[in-house]
Amino acid sequence: MTAQEIRKAYLDSMVNNGHSIIPRALLVPPNDPTTLFTGSGMQPLIPFLLGEKHQDGTRLVNSQTCLRAQDIDDVGDNRHTTFFEMLGNWSLGDYFKTEQLRWFFEFLVAKVGLDPNRIYVTCCSGFPEFGVPKDLESAQLWSDLFDEQGVDNKQVEIGSEENGYKVGEQSGRIFFYDEKNWWSRNGAPKDVKVGEPCGPDSEVFYLFDQIKHDTSFGELCHPNCDCGRYMEIGNSVFMEYLRTDKGFEKLPARNVDFGGGLERIAAAQLDSPDVFKISILLPIVESLEQMSGKKYESHTASMRVIADHLRAATFLAVDGIVPSNKEQGYVMRRLMRRAIRFAFELGVEQDLCSKIVPVITDLYKNDYPEVSAKCDEVVAILTKEEKIFRQTLRKGLKEFENLFGEENKKTKVENHGAALFQLYDTYGFPLELSIEEAYKQNVDLDKDWKQQFDAKMTEQRERSQTASKGTFKGGLGGQTLQHKKYHTATHLMYQALRQVLGDHVIQRGSNITEERLRFDFSHDGKVTPEQIKQVEDIVNEQISKDLKISFQEYPTKVAREEMHALGQFGDRYGETVKVYKMIAEDADKPFSFEICGGPHVDHTHQLIEDDKKFKILKEEASSAGIRRIKAALV
Ligand code: ALA
Repeated sequence: MTAQEIRKAYLDSMVNNGHSIIPRALLVPPNDPTTLFTGSGMQPLIPFLLGEKHQDGTRLVNSQTCLRAQDIDDVGDNRHTTFFEMLGNWSLGDYFKTEQLRWFFEFLVAKVGLDPNRIYVTCCSGFPEFGVPKDLESAQLWSDLFDEQGVDNKQVEIGSEENGYKVGEQSGRIFFYDEKNWWSRNGAPKDVKVGEPCGPDSEVFYLFDQIKHDTSFGELCHPNCDCGRYMEIGNSVFMEYLRTDKGFEKLPARNVDFGGGLERIAAAQLDSPDVFKISILLPIVESLEQMSGKKYESHTASMRVIADHLRAATFLAVDGIVPSNKEQGYVMRRLMRRAIRFAFELGVEQDLCSKIVPVITDLYKNDYPEVSAKCDEVVAILTKEEKIFRQTLRKGLKEFENLFGEENKKTKVENHGAALFQLYDTYGFPLELSIEEAYKQNVDLDKDWKQQFDAKMTEQRERSQTASKGTFKGGLGGQTLQHKKYHTATHLMYQALRQVLGDHVIQRGSNITEERLRFDFSHDGKVTPEQIKQVEDIVNEQISKDLKISFQEYPTKVAREEMHALGQFGDRYGETVKVYKMIAEDADKPFSFEICGGPHVDHTHQLIEDDKKFKILKEEASSAGIRRIKAALV
């Protein structure tokens, strides 16, 4: 079975079970300033997991393209990729554990053809301190399912991952872990942020018993060991809790959030511990072999990195991202540059993207037609970056020569680590290449060059962290006067929208540049031209009243429950919040009263000092039940 066939079989079987197929969300979430990429299938569905109605019903399924940039350094081993597809199905207050565990198990055994003897599962041992009981129900369901297949199913208590290395497998089939069997976007129960849905989960692992345990990971092997013997292929999250400021409360309905890695299931189907052998990755590797004249067997890690990173960059380009120095564009640049650098080391010094991208887009032509439709565009975007970076590589080599060449040795540099950092930071020349060059040219690096380099890196990180603090606050792209004006206008418009359309209007996203504001909010159906006019009139009237703007800090509970300060959907607040008030001099009640981190102008006349007026430029659907407005001072 190819990966493409597995994807289809899964969607088909879930449709048979009453699910509606929903389209994949873009890799870059349009309404979520808290995260750069779509990293799991549930992310676009959070409002619905929290209780909002979904237009397609209570049983949903898709294959979601995901990017986990945090895994970039793990790519190169047999199973990690930054880009992957997550097969996902959801029950929004509909079916629960019984159906979910059976459907996935039957899919693996009956459709994908996995040997049930190679399947191992884990369940949550519970968190008494948070009122979450041990998941005996899932364990029993698994027991029954394995019994039906005639497979032994001893239960084993493990607890923490660390303990797993001490107690080992013990011929178990069903294992209880604590934090490893809990899912939230923030991780363990103690780390879950207020407003996040979460719950215990039950994971499924495939055992590659042809692999021997590697004791460098820990003394004994167990399902969550990282040696590669066990591979996680699916996770059913029983999302029934909501983290509130009081602790964990039950959500209005019990949901299932299932995610299974398509690439990994396909690898299990081949009984290949190496995911790069599957039908949607191997052709990329084979093209790299052809281009470089080198063998995958002897250049495994490099080819894996190139294949993964270029596939990720291709999908990013399809979804509208271009390489840059900011946010998603920066990650894309990093992925591309790593791929190009590894290719450079394989001796591929040109045409990497123009040759590999069409191979990638071809693999997705039937299932994601938008990918092959954009092939030429993607080649152009990626090739441009490739050219720029190849220049960087050349310049870096020259600069290396300047710093470390025979004549200049040690003359220009404070210390070797600092010089390597300068090459890396100013010229974008990768450290690995510097080291290789140093080796080739017999440069005898300072003994502690690595500490010197790390010290410079830490300094730089601290600088950039300080600089990026607040980047996303309120969706502001910067802190100039123009940003502040649009931020203030956003508050005025939010309040005006509620007056005109009703209290169901809740902020769902905001993005502010120096040219305009953009605001997403919940509302069904179009906002009519008359309503738009009314909103504009209210905002302009308030601006002309020269409202005074100030803020004060309140305990979150007081601000929300007693003073009814406006917030935005799903926002996570700490103990106290800043509330911005916009009030006319003679008024006894503020026009706008909203939880917000700032910054704003001091009074609304600043918005019209150059004779401008607030105007709504565009109103459109953003996603189901969410409208988007773009407005400016013109
Ligand atoms: N949301 C769950 C995960 O990402 C299914 O593992």
